[in-house]
Amino acid sequence: MSGTKLYEGKAKILFTTDDPNILLSQYKDDATAFNALKKGTIANKGEMNCAIASHIFQYLEANGIATHFISQVSPNEMQVAAVKILAIEVVVRNIAAGSICKRLGLEKGQTLNEPLVEFFYKNDDLGDPLITEDHIAMLELATPDQVSQLRKLALDINHHLQAFFEQCNLTLVDFKVEIGANYQGKLLLADEISPDTCRLWDKNIADPSDRIMDKDRFRQDLGKIAEAYQEVTKRVLAVKIPIHP
Ligand code: TMP
Ligand code: ASP
Repeated sequence: MSGTKLYEGKAKILFTTDDPNILLSQYKDDATAFNALKKGTIANKGEMNCAIASHIFQYLEANGIATHFISQVSPNEMQVAAVKILAIEVVVRNIAAGSICKRLGLEKGQTLNEPLVEFFYKNDDLGDPLITEDHIAMLELATPDQVSQLRKLALDINHHLQAFFEQCNLTLVDFKVEIGANYQGKLLLADEISPDTCRLWDKNIADPSDRIMDKDRFRQDLGKIAEAYQEVTKRVLAVKIPIHP
């Protein structure tokens, strides 16, 4: 039984449940880009991203990362811990692509010497601008201690996700995560990890457009969008989740 709608985002809807510490996250087929200036749907995306995110959350949990994931309860729904999402989008980049190329003039495809962490202000009215740690403190989006936890968590997640996608024959170019505090104040990886929120390049394909296996196919009108998501789903679900005694 689903409860009342708490919040509807661009790709998911959050519902209450009978337990105040548990929410239901329902994944939609809707896709948006450029702060929702571009809108569309990707056939079956809700089910594919829910399956991908569930599998990745379980993989990360098995590797010691605390996430909001509780269980997948239907093809496009998962139960998650209720958290207060910080208004910060944390991006980790291994290879230059997307906004950093425009912002800093880096060449697309250039490998970075070490993973780069960036913070963006989660504010649609302002177009999610890049922010510094001083901005985070001034706007009171997180405490300095939480910012250092965010940086460490993001780099740990990157480390495990790189190993994960290596097994899928996909290069993890960059990704965005959202972090929330649970009722005890503990920071948990929240939102989703999927081809909507990661750049993934097929290691088998050299052509710079053909190798794109993520939402950039939608953003850039490259075609074969659902096909790319299906292929990522197949490869992700084939990865074994380690069991730690
Ligand atoms: P960017 O290069 O556009 O800054 O994107 C960096 C990463 O963050 C990329 O993997 C796509 C992801 N992302 C989101 O998940 N949501 C967003 O709104 C944006 C702009 C990027
Ligand atoms: N999800 C974002 C939006 O619509 C942008 C993106 O993923 O590119 O606005």
